[in-house]
Amino acid sequence: MAEYDLLICTRLMGETPEEMLASMEKAKEEGADIAELKLHSMHSINDVEKVIKHRLLPLIISFSLTLSGGMCEADERKKCFEVLGLAVELGAEFVDVELEVAAEFMSGVQLEKHCNSKTIVSYHVKDRSSSKEKLGDLVAHMQSTRADIIKLVIDSFVITDVAKLFHLLSQCQVPLIAFAAGDRGLISQLLCRKFGGFLVYGSIGGNSIPGLPTLCSLRGVYKLEYMNAFTQIYGVISNPVGHSKGPILHNPAFRHIGYNGIYVPMCVDDIKKFFEVYSSPDFAGFSVGIPHKEAALGCCDEVDPLAKSIGAVNTIVRRPSDGKLIGYNTDCEAAITAIEDAMRARTGPNEGESHTSPLAGKLFVLVGAGGAGRALAFGAKSRGARIVIFNGNHERAKSLASAVSGEARPYKEINSFCPEKRMILANATSVGMQPNSDKTPVSKEVLGAYDLVFDSVYTPRNTRLLREAEEAGAIAVSGVEMFIRQAIAQFNLFTGGLADAEFMRNIVLNQF
Ligand SMILES: NC(=O)c1ccc[n+]([C@@H]2O[C@H](COP(=O)([O-])OP(=O)(O)OC[C@H]3O[C@@H](n4cnc5c(N)ncnc54)[C@H](OP(=O)(O)O)[C@@H]3O)[C@@H](O)[C@H]2O)c1
Repeated sequence: MAEYDLLICTRLMGETPEEMLASMEKAKEEGADIAELKLHSMHSINDVEKVIKHRLLPLIISFSLTLSGGMCEADERKKCFEVLGLAVELGAEFVDVELEVAAEFMSGVQLEKHCNSKTIVSYHVKDRSSSKEKLGDLVAHMQSTRADIIKLVIDSFVITDVAKLFHLLSQCQVPLIAFAAGDRGLISQLLCRKFGGFLVYGSIGGNSIPGLPTLCSLRGVYKLEYMNAFTQIYGVISNPVGHSKGPILHNPAFRHIGYNGIYVPMCVDDIKKFFEVYSSPDFAGFSVGIPHKEAALGCCDEVDPLAKSIGAVNTIVRRPSDGKLIGYNTDCEAAITAIEDAMRARTGPNEGESHTSPLAGKLFVLVGAGGAGRALAFGAKSRGARIVIFNGNHERAKSLASAVSGEARPYKEINSFCPEKRMILANATSVGMQPNSDKTPVSKEVLGAYDLVFDSVYTPRNTRLLREAEEAGAIAVSGVEMFIRQAIAQFNLFTGGLADAEFMRNIVLNQF
């Protein structure tokens, strides 16, 4: 694997030179090292000249033959060579030429006379089934064009497609830009530095482009400049994954304690296949989100007894000594201790010193029987609470109730259920979550019967259910508290107990 200083690049937006230069100014502000100007046959040669002459950042000038609709092949090539030739003449730092015309371009006289520009030879592999051996042959062929740098783009339909690129990056002896397009390809940008990539792309202005991190996140969250071949990879396996706040929390927490790790979103369709393909020790630990928590259990070599009884794993760590995957559930203790601490805070120091859980003997009303619901039910049972479960899918409620010696009741009865006072209510459905934050799973009229209401939803932090619970006189406990605690426990599992809980709590409270 070759070693280079990774460059952070962005593709400029705009059609006119003024728009392109404005875009370059913004890219510079947001931390780009270099900008790419992708041209096609409709761009005027004078405009290209203006942008190159007034550039604020080093430039890659590329010419897309595929965007040159309507032009005959010979004219198109002529324009391509004219534009790239001008770029070389004006001293643009890089010119990017497609493999199809690379040999012809490289045999031109321009490069002999002007040696300031480096040549990138690029190719977009459309055949998804290309093996890593075939891609290796392709790279060797591209190298034979005397390219200074090689750029390979593949289409990624699933995250496991990206593994081929990591293999190529770690083998290649010339500077290589290699990434996978599409949202499943995001890790090809975020992890390329570890495997020796030459350049990573980010989007300007916080624009969400599938598969591309924003420049601001590359500079502010991932800070790829700290990454090297020894960086341990962590990530959240989920689908969808875009909503995950994990990267904003775990990456600064790694840096805060001087731990060489990166935490990235991983949009995974098939979790079993994912672990088959990414089996190296580099992939050290994972958070597991929707909808993989139950299937994750079957991917682990060993499962912690609590996670096993809950039937859901939200954390997986690869044991360094033997590479085995060990599954845990940090949701359960996070939610239950958040509830217990809030109850103890209300009852004062005397009862707070008691070793008995304040949940013991309480009627614990749980709405929802998915992954979070299962964690809450097993946690409440472990503290000696009596459990009643309401869930839309009644069979799911019955099965969970039977596992925790509780009772399942029809979902439609939740708003008339009031067998006693001073109950505990826990919402483990997604009702009330953004963007549907005007919804609530339990009507305000019955909330007076509860001492405490917990909502596992954490976006928004203060849900309608919690606001109405407070108005009814109950203690309201936000899902943010569960989120913080489960993340700290996860971080401790990742790092062998190195979490700075205060630091992580402050990030969540200040940024979420
Ligand atoms: N704070 C934290 O750290 C944390 C951690 C984990 C989860 N959570 C939150 O907990 C919630 C559930 O997550 P999960 O992992 O348990 O998901 P899950 O396994 O997919 O379960 C979803 C639950 O929500 C119910 N549900 C969904 N839409 C509903 C609707 N319109 N009306 C009534 N019930 C509905 C489902 O009922 P059916 O069985 O009838 O479909 C099921 O009980 C989410 O909001 C998630 O963000 C928070």
